[in-house]
Amino acid sequence: MRHDSVLGTLTVAAVLCIVCSVIVSATAVSLRERQESNKVLEMKRNVLVAAGLFEEGDTVEELFGQVERHLIDLSSGRVVEDGEVDPESYDPRTAAKDPELGVEIDPEKDLAGIKRRGKYAFVYLVRKDEAIEQIILPVYGKGLWSTLYGFLSLRRDGRTVSGITFYEHKETPGLGGEVDNPVWKASWSGKQVRDESGRPILEVLRGSVSAEDPQAFHKIDGLSGATITSRGVQNLIQYWLGSDGFGPYLEQLDR
Ligand SMILES: Cc1cc2nc3c(=O)[nH]c(=O)nc-3n(C[C@H](O)[C@H](O)[C@H](O)COP(=O)(O)O)c2cc1C
Repeated sequence: MRHDSVLGTLTVAAVLCIVCSVIVSATAVSLRERQESNKVLEMKRNVLVAAGLFEEGDTVEELFGQVERHLIDLSSGRVVEDGEVDPESYDPRTAAKDPELGVEIDPEKDLAGIKRRGKYAFVYLVRKDEAIEQIILPVYGKGLWSTLYGFLSLRRDGRTVSGITFYEHKETPGLGGEVDNPVWKASWSGKQVRDESGRPILEVLRGSVSAEDPQAFHKIDGLSGATITSRGVQNLIQYWLGSDGFGPYLEQLDR
């Protein structure tokens, strides 16, 4: 066969395609394990960030040693018993889509705009001398362009914010993307997100919180030019702190 014939060209192209696809597939398969472990490490880092326990350069695994992870049943708020669900293989995002492990959210209650959620969720606790010091909750919900995923850390009273972080979203940089602004995130610290009876009371305003407002303790400045993202953040926090989210779990901690 001549090298410059049509058949020769097609043969070379076909062989090249097969070789390349084998290389790409082999690389993807061999990296899968590392991708999975990086995903877990990144999740741990974000939990630590929300809890204010992470500084750049710190070793995540070492710091995460002080964090307890529990899988809870959202409807009852109780910690899942051994053998009920395997926490090692439970993935809340996959579970939400699963007919067995997920539930459809009543549209009237679906403040976060997520339609479905897993029956179970992880909570993370940081203790000091046995007593709970921080409760870190995974929260997510719709903004303008995307679903925002984050962690909200509460102090031991289950009402006061210790920290917040969003680790995944596709909001516009400079507008909704300001959810990542460290100054804005710092403004959450000390705010009350649940009242004495456990009802979610957080408001993300359109504009700034007035220093004279006696209710300022449960209000956060809105992100300018990003009212929809701001409203999304308010709604997702309201949802996850409410009776359909972590409300039952937090009530058990209250008692
Ligand atoms: C290119 C572009 C990107 C935008 N990105 C966002 C965004 O990420 N979040 C958001 O709430 N609004 C975003 N907006 C603005 C919204 O369309 C809407 O006008 C705004 O949320 C209203 O808020 P405001 O009353 O604070 O301006 C964007 C607008 C444009 C033109």
